Amino acid sequence: MTQRGRFISLEGGEGAGKSTLLAGLRDHLVARGVTLLQVREPGGTPLGESIRAIVLDPAHSSISAESELLLMFAARAQLVRERIAPALDAGQWVLCDRYVDASYAYQGGGRGQPMERIAELERWACAGLKPDMTLLLDLPVSTGRARAAGRGAADRIETEADAFFERVRETYRARAQNEPQRFRVIDASASPDKVLQAAIAATEHLFEAAA
Ligand code: TMP
Repeated sequence: MTQRGRFISLEGGEGAGKSTLLAGLRDHLVARGVTLLQVREPGGTPLGESIRAIVLDPAHSSISAESELLLMFAARAQLVRERIAPALDAGQWVLCDRYVDASYAYQGGGRGQPMERIAELERWACAGLKPDMTLLLDLPVSTGRARAAGRGAADRIETEADAFFERVRETYRARAQNEPQRFRVIDASASPDKVLQAAIAATEHLFEAAA
């Protein structure tokens, strides 16, 4: 019987260095012989990428918090069924650039949507799929925003005020504290190499569990 793959998600605020870490971690896992599926949220399927374009479009400035939440979960429900679950069943590992913790942090913490409502959506939409490990790149909001400032045009969510991102950060940190066995919090103010080494060290136990 094929052994189920491992499911890793990566979370963090703006400018935390997620993209750099993803590239390094992907190379490391592949070099270790892992067959890897890398996907992002919102997105990762044709439907999800269309939803991403809508939900991040600054032109939709009047989108309601409820619509935003449901769109995130619509993309996620498709991604779980079309890509993540089949890959894990086939023994592949999945590296997901954000997953359900982002909805708790952004739509729950940031927008004030009830956490219990999000939990209900999670139970329904995620088909019981939870990451085996979640890496949280943690960084003070001001540092992250300064890093991100040099990039291209901000998407709709990136235009939010600092207070929004403070709530996002606090929610992520609280979730990490509540689930220490799943989360690994990485200090994202360290150098990219240090961050990568910390992430690599954090993934070691997944190999042991898979052996
Ligand atoms: P990215 O910039 O990391 O690709 O993420 C896209 C944006 O979508 C980012 O601002 C976080 C936001 N987001 C949510 O608000 N809720 C979610 O559930 C997800 C997955 C992302």
